Amino acid sequence: MFFTRLTVTIMSIQDTILVTGGAGFIGSNFVLSWLQAAGSRVINLDFLTYAGNPSSLDSLKTDPRHLLVHGDIADGELVASLLRQYRPRAIVHFAAESHVDRSIVAPDAFIRTNVQGTFALLEQTKSYWSQLDSADKPGFRFLHVSTDEVYGALGPHEPAFSETTAYAPNSPYAASKAASDHLVRAYHHTFGLPVLTTNCSNNYGPLQFPEKLIPLMILNALEGRPLPVYGDGGNVRDWLFVEDHCAAIRVVLERGRIGETYNIGGNSERKNLDVVTAICDLVDEMRPNPVIGSRRKLIGFVEDRPGHDRRYAIDASKIARELGWKPAQQFESGLRRTVRWYLDNLPWVENVRTGAYLKWIEQNYAERLAL
Ligand code: NAD
Ligand code: TYD
Repeated sequence: MFFTRLTVTIMSIQDTILVTGGAGFIGSNFVLSWLQAAGSRVINLDFLTYAGNPSSLDSLKTDPRHLLVHGDIADGELVASLLRQYRPRAIVHFAAESHVDRSIVAPDAFIRTNVQGTFALLEQTKSYWSQLDSADKPGFRFLHVSTDEVYGALGPHEPAFSETTAYAPNSPYAASKAASDHLVRAYHHTFGLPVLTTNCSNNYGPLQFPEKLIPLMILNALEGRPLPVYGDGGNVRDWLFVEDHCAAIRVVLERGRIGETYNIGGNSERKNLDVVTAICDLVDEMRPNPVIGSRRKLIGFVEDRPGHDRRYAIDASKIARELGWKPAQQFESGLRRTVRWYLDNLPWVENVRTGAYLKWIEQNYAERLAL
């Protein structure tokens, strides 16, 4: 499965999709669910940055329908050769630098991958698509996975982001994703490339790298370590269970209208402090520890993220109306499943906590003063 250039007979264009970033959190969930639903072959192009974890795909080791290729979306020659060889009917583009805090400390990689990488991928896709024959061309799709953060921040009573909300990105991460969305749009408008864009809210669930809020707090709570809440903990995010997100992407890929954007949300706005408190209670219930006591005691307020967006919320009525998709998971049951998954999968956690991970945790939290 790994890193090999297979010699294969060319299959018809309908048999294969190319996924980028399929060793990351959402990408790996997508690949697993795609293949579980008896989906067609997946070519998975991933640069295996700190956020890419081949171990998330261990269950596919002997599955001939999955091929993980270690490579960069910005490597035009590699992308062209994969397109030529495997002739996918669609590209689902997850690959990105995705962590806001890292984009504040070191934005360069975000511009390189999210902007230049997406541009390079679009160029190769355009060239491949323009050479498809007339039978294959109408079915081809390029689906770009993006974020609600491109819309900026909401006040407490403002209506949720819709597909027509003006872009107002506030972090280097959000700006780089906004730029990539604009490039995708332009390749449709100017060249006719059959694109689809999805903008979703904060995902949570199994296989998320433990630098993001929910897995970080689960593991710190388990180990009796401080739970660092930024600012006053009153920032609000909408939480989307990753399985629901993957189902939405499949629906958009199959039935979305070319050139359209679809917002995907979990209908679960929560304050950060409420999320962290709920995690404490779940970990207490599932792994009571008399030495640690109530995990709520571990919560501490630390220096805020610069430019921290106060609230995100998604209006997902367009995808519900046009494509019939709605989130299936309630936040409370999704969070319970997520906590359970981490507690049951500590070897996966140990595997992703490499030296580079420990260095990031030290860098991000050591200098954050307690409030
Ligand atoms: P992630 O950071 O967990 O994974 C990103 C993956 O991309 C990793 O496997 C990494 O190795 C790979 N990658 C990075 N640079 C690459 C390159 N140059 N070439 C090929 N692969 C590369 O991210 P995620 O949370 O799974 O997010 C996936 C997508 O969804 C991203 O585009 C992100 O912006 C978007 N998104 C995520 C969330 C969220 O809550 N996680 C919310 C909204 C949108
Ligand atoms: P995060 O998971 O980084 O996602 P995003 O910044 O893309 O929304 O953070 C979710 C929220 O949790 C965000 O408001 C920042 C906050 N947060 C903390 O309070 N403490 C932390 O240690 C982290 C990582 C995030």
